[in-house]
Amino acid sequence: MIKYAFPADFLWGSSTSAFQVEGDCKNHDFYEWAVKGRIKDGTNPDDAVHHYRKYIEDIELLKAMNHNAARIGLEWARIEPEEGVFDQNAIGHYRDELIRMRNVGLKCMVTIHHFANPLWLTAKGGWKNPTLLHFYLRFVEKVVYELGDLVDFWLTINEPNCYGIMAYFFGEFPPGEKSIPSFFKVSRNMIRAHCLAYQRIHRIHRENNWQEAVVGWSLAWVHFEAAPGNPLHRLGRALAHFLTLSRFINRIKDSLDFIGIQYYRSDLVRFPFTTTNHPDTPKSKLGWDIMPDRFYEVLASCWKKYHLPIYVTENGVCDDNDELRPAYLVSHLYYLWKAIQSGVDVRGYFHWSTLDNFELVDGVCSPFGLVHVDHAHPDRTRTIKPSGRLYAEIIAQGGLTQEMIDEYGDKFIKGYETPRFI
Ligand code: BGC
Repeated sequence: MIKYAFPADFLWGSSTSAFQVEGDCKNHDFYEWAVKGRIKDGTNPDDAVHHYRKYIEDIELLKAMNHNAARIGLEWARIEPEEGVFDQNAIGHYRDELIRMRNVGLKCMVTIHHFANPLWLTAKGGWKNPTLLHFYLRFVEKVVYELGDLVDFWLTINEPNCYGIMAYFFGEFPPGEKSIPSFFKVSRNMIRAHCLAYQRIHRIHRENNWQEAVVGWSLAWVHFEAAPGNPLHRLGRALAHFLTLSRFINRIKDSLDFIGIQYYRSDLVRFPFTTTNHPDTPKSKLGWDIMPDRFYEVLASCWKKYHLPIYVTENGVCDDNDELRPAYLVSHLYYLWKAIQSGVDVRGYFHWSTLDNFELVDGVCSPFGLVHVDHAHPDRTRTIKPSGRLYAEIIAQGGLTQEMIDEYGDKFIKGYETPRFI
């Protein structure tokens, strides 16, 4: 009955990052940024989703959605609230969360750095300052010693390619700089930070006789396509791809056990660097083009070039009433299935996001969750959405059924039937 079956050991999960769901932490730069009024809907991450208080209930939700894996993040500002001072209660909290996740059969993927920085670190110049490597690596060592026995997959840094651009080029994340030299400095420091962290994480796992560490980093993988009509746009596309992607992977590919791909959308590129929407494609609430066939191309081209195992560490859609998400989910899983059929080594899929979280530039009014969070309710009540129930059903079936394709396929699959890459 299952027509589009996934491998039996495939990981089915969803993702969160610490500051986007936890709350109860004010000493990081995204909170400071939010209270300066830099978030579109005026909300802030401190009082958004209350996952730090409600993590036990949230683990139950993961199980109710049949997950066998989940990705969470660590909040650096909470674990090391002052330079060199580590909060053992915070570490105990994360240990408890991971133990509970494992007890219900979830494989745990943990992100060490996901955009937010402690304020004491930003006072030292943040990621622009090369001495930051020392602080980052000390933090990595601490959390790996404390938590490594419970972690199946480490992600050293979330989307270094997006962070540098948003924080130091477009100025839309803190510290809000718009400087090309700073952007390059930050990318360089993140690349070095990853490579050194990779070695240390492996060493600590070995010294403690834990299972061999599995370490990757996750990249924002926008699919770039040259706009028609001018051959120079192709050059623009190649440059955009190089600057935001290949430059990052080429330099670290020997320090990766897997690549975390985070795919949301495809953009058209006009020479030299302007990106625009594709005409006539469905759009998410944030105006991003929904093009699941391009997901196939991303997965296939990544595999062809790097031959490293792939985990899809984020993929999802911003959508108010769950009108797009069920079809988005089915159509992206369909193309993921096709990629696996073509020999691409994709080992897991983590939907973004588990919960309606605090979205980076936009705030809580831009929901990505499989689970609805009532942000107006003092208890931030959760309700699994139809897409969350559908995902649970897909996981229970071990793949997509023809009925699911028939019901949801029309929206985004038809018309893109032929994968164009391999
Ligand atoms: C980030 C998430 C973010 C999502 C949607 C990804 O680039 O890792 O933190 O919420 O995109 O914008």
